[in-house]
Amino acid sequence: MDDEKKTDTRCNRRNFLGKGGLAAFLGAVGVAGVGSVIGLKPSVLPDPSEQFKIGPPQDYPVGTRVVFDKESVVFCSDHDGFYAISMVCTHLGCIVTLNKDEERFDCPCHGSKFDMAGRVQKAPAPKALPWFQVSLHPSGQLVIDRSTTVDMGTKVTV
Ligand code: FES
Repeated sequence: MDDEKKTDTRCNRRNFLGKGGLAAFLGAVGVAGVGSVIGLKPSVLPDPSEQFKIGPPQDYPVGTRVVFDKESVVFCSDHDGFYAISMVCTHLGCIVTLNKDEERFDCPCHGSKFDMAGRVQKAPAPKALPWFQVSLHPSGQLVIDRSTTVDMGTKVTV
């Protein structure tokens, strides 16, 4: 008789599910489900600033070379026009630095070097730095479009 009244206090599936374990289990599944949905979002979202205005052409006289750090672009002006070059290394994506003394771009990560047109001078970078489209906005400002590449040497006159 005493044996029948004994309560099994061991943790088994029935006890676990019956004593709040079910709620905890469902909560965990819910959190995992939400996490899965969040995880389905692309980790790299489109950058709303792919195109950015840099001001009127007269702000950039011949010989100008300006680095836009946030956008990782160098904008230049010479006798043939305006142009913009990416400063994102074509090896693994580090940001190159402008080495004014040597007149080239240096990558701090693995030592690639590029000439001032973006051509690879030293590997491991597999290809040249891309050039971006430059145009004149109706507002009179120059616009750099990082979503559109142009052939190396493409310069814009206004
Ligand atoms: Fe530039 Fe590797 S990321 S050389």
